[in-house]
Order: sequence, then C-alpha cells, then structure tokens
Amino acid sequence: MAATASTTRRLSGPERLQLVRDARPLKATGITWADVEEHLNVTEGQRKSAFRDYDDLLAKWGGNGHDNGSGEGSDAAAAAARTWGIEMYRFGKSPRPAPRVPVFNAVPVVVGNCLVVGDVHLPTSDYALIDMMFETARKLGLTQMIIAGDLINADVFTTFDHEIPPIEFEDEEEIAGRFLSRCVEQFERVVFIQGNHERRVNKRSRGQLDAKALARILNRYADDMDVSPYGECVIISNGQRWHTVHQRNYSRIKGRVGNVLAQKYQANMIVWHQHHVAKLMDDWGRYVIIDGGGTHDDKTMAYVQLTPSTSPVMTRGFVVIVDGVGHVLTPYAAFTDWRTVDSLAARVAAGR
Ligand SMILES: [Fe+2]
Repeated sequence: MAATASTTRRLSGPERLQLVRDARPLKATGITWADVEEHLNVTEGQRKSAFRDYDDLLAKWGGNGHDNGSGEGSDAAAAAARTWGIEMYRFGKSPRPAPRVPVFNAVPVVVGNCLVVGDVHLPTSDYALIDMMFETARKLGLTQMIIAGDLINADVFTTFDHEIPPIEFEDEEEIAGRFLSRCVEQFERVVFIQGNHERRVNKRSRGQLDAKALARILNRYADDMDVSPYGECVIISNGQRWHTVHQRNYSRIKGRVGNVLAQKYQANMIVWHQHHVAKLMDDWGRYVIIDGGGTHDDKTMAYVQLTPSTSPVMTRGFVVIVDGVGHVLTPYAAFTDWRTVDSLAARVAAGR
C-alpha cells in the first residue's frame, strides 16, 4: 500500500539506518515487502534507497558497532549472536514470531536386540544385580540399552514429607554419573526415558531442568545418550513390536497394568514403575507382558522400611530382548536359571 503524503519526505541518515534495522526482522517473519513498508509507514522508494545505502549509513550513523543507542543491540552484536545459533528479537514489538505449538509424537525407537532396565533407583540399588545386568548384556553382545525411568530417586525433590533426612542429591548425582559412564562405555546406543522420579526434578524446576538438563547434571556423557522427555520407548526386534513404558498407573496385581497397555498400544509390553516381576500373556492371548522389576533395593528405602504396610513386597529384575523374545532375569533362584543366559549367548554367537 502506498505511504501517506506526509511520509514521502526524504528521510534523514539515522532514520534510514533505523528503517533497515526495523525492516529486516519484519521481513524475516515472512511478510511481503509491501506489508513491511505499510507497517513502517514508508514508501517503496524510501525502503529501497535505505537498503541500497545501508553500508554507508552504518559507517556514518552506526556508532562503534556495539551500541547504536536504540536499546536493541547493534547489528554487529546480532550477527555475532547468530554465529552462536542465537536469534535476537525485539521484545514487545509486533508482529511477534510465529507461534510454536508442540506435538508430542517423538517417542524414541530402538531396532534390534537390547537391554531394558527401569527403576534402578540409584543410590538405593541392588549393585550385585546391576553387575549381573552389565555382564549379561556383554555375554549376549547387546549394543543397545534403554534406561526406562527412575534411574535416580531425586528424593530431595519430592513433595512428600521426609521422615528422615533424604540422601543428598550430590550423592545421587555422583553414583548416577558412574552408572551412566559405564553405560556409555559399554553400549553404542543408550536411550534414557523418564520415570516419575526424574519428573520430580522437571516439575520442581518448572520444566527448566528438563530431561536433557538433568542428564547433563548427572553425567558428562549426556550428549552421547539419546535422552528423551517421554516415558516410553518402542522396540522393534526380529519383527516383534515391544513397547516399554514408565506409566503413571500402579496396580498391586502383577500384569494388570500391562494387560491394559498391551491393548492400548497393540504391542508386547515391558512395564516399570510398579516394582513387580512377572511374565505372562495378555487376556486375549496376543501379546507378552513383562513386569520388569528394577534394580532397586528396598532394604535401603526409608519409606518402605520404617512404616509397615500391606503393599506387595518390591521385586527385582531386568529385561533383555533377543531376536524378538523378551526375557526377564531376576535374582530369584526359583525364577531365573542363569545358565539359560549362557546357552542364549551361545546361540546368539552361532547366529552371527
Ligand atoms: Fe520406581
């Protein structure tokens, strides 16, 4: 649209310099030059001549290149920020950048064999079982690992009242760092999804300490891991579809939550959070449900030990997916014959 007669006068040098500075971010929003001119109330000729003479205007009116007196920072500063991947904008100036709306459809996917462990609950963990877990993965030649939430307790971030002083976060961080370093050393790919205990940190920090930020606090190898804000991960192995979840639901009846989730996701399920161990078929005989247990040690958990309850005793285990089949391995002699790991390892080695 044509500018009004009052704006057709020749602009001064500082005005022309400012015109370019105002026009650029507007144009970057995707609007037409005509819209830019209308918004700034200038003619096409004024805009074009200012852009044509910009370098001269900058040299004459642009100050020392670091502060142009406009309060918005200089072009040089904005250009330098851009080299750091930072886009500066004028707060409160319209039009605003295009609104961004998140779509939550980026659940991680693992293809092939893998180790799956959730509810590690460092540092109140069964370290003997953790050692067996790493050793089992080595024997089976597993190169991928999924940490399915509740890696740490994050006790100081809970909203529950503390009966005794919680284990310091610094101690959790120290042990988690050692654990994750070992994961990154042993596995080519480590996927870390979130459990309710990680979400304590996310929530208390109002989302500022998100999954990635927490992983970086816990471990200097965080950028080598696939850290996901989701509480689920899809596994495709030998044509079988598995879904491992750290869901919010709990049932004291083993397999019940997984039975529902198997119908929801139409997949075999590996379920955490409940600290149950079980392997069974769903109600319709279609999918396998595994309650994976976890490598926690409830003997060192204050809230479990100090106050008696009728809750089921927590049970322990971890899961390996080998050629589409899910195996839950536990420290219980009547449940797990560890020689099966050796025979499985021999078959895996023969198949390579
Ligand atoms: Fe847990």
